[in-house]
Amino acid sequence: MKIAVSGKGGVGKTTFVATLAKVFTEYGKRVIAIDADPVSNLAATLGVKDVSKIVPISQMKDLIRERTGATSEEYGKFFKLNPTVSDLPDKLSLELDGIRLMVMGAVKRGGGGCACPENVFLRTLLSHLILQRDEVIIVDMEAGIEHLGRATVKAVNALIVIVEPGSKSIQTASQVKKLADDIGLKSIYAVGNKITSDEHKKLIEKGLNTIPVLGFISYNDGVLEADIEGRAAFSENRQLLLEVREIKNRLEECVKSQ
Ligand SMILES: Nc1ncnc2c1ncn2[C@@H]1O[C@H](COP(=O)(O)OP(=O)(O)O)[C@@H](O)[C@H]1O
Ligand SMILES: [Mg+2]
Repeated sequence: MKIAVSGKGGVGKTTFVATLAKVFTEYGKRVIAIDADPVSNLAATLGVKDVSKIVPISQMKDLIRERTGATSEEYGKFFKLNPTVSDLPDKLSLELDGIRLMVMGAVKRGGGGCACPENVFLRTLLSHLILQRDEVIIVDMEAGIEHLGRATVKAVNALIVIVEPGSKSIQTASQVKKLADDIGLKSIYAVGNKITSDEHKKLIEKGLNTIPVLGFISYNDGVLEADIEGRAAFSENRQLLLEVREIKNRLEECVKSQ
């Protein structure tokens, strides 16, 4: 199963990715959770204590130079468009209770643009993970989904957009759907988060119109408490785990009938 998660900032993408990763491990699956949001906090959300020690892959200049032949600081220099990356998921991931975590990090835009060595490197790595690995892959993305190239899209079983009650995140979901249509990604679903009433559910379902909703996650004070105490978002949180289990089951049904 290959899953990408997108949506407006702050809606709960990272909380969902961490909890879904945990739920898959409960069912005996091996999971690679990938933080591909430049505003990266998946490590902390999974309960990693010493987050400052994690070096995002985009900052591993020596490695990027070794594999591609250049970094974006060496502007204009020739670099490889198909660097070798197959050894890296095992070397560059952090193992936590059956979940392997990879932190991609941010790439500077502008100047070198899309085709800078760092971007090519991260894209190649992401494609490799989605196309070649047999673990469950869950990618925590920003609202833009441009990191998913056309070749990769075919192997993505589901793009899940997280929304919260209110029109802004629903608008973002529509934008993400357009981007998905553009790259030929058809299996797009939504999850409603921070729900406090049935009305919120209806509002979301109506607002999303053509995007099927896999399920809902209640507003949950435990998520904030876990954050304050530096625990994983899902730790000591039966309600959250229960709701995400249901979403996972629904997702599997949807993917099977695709
Ligand atoms: N179901 C929920 N109930 C209450 N707070 C939540 C819930 N989901 C997420 N949050 C809080 O919302 C904020 C943003 O969540 P996060 O998962 O980091 O969003 P994103 O990755 O989309 O930016 C965090 O402070 C998190 O603790
Ligand atoms: Mg996030």
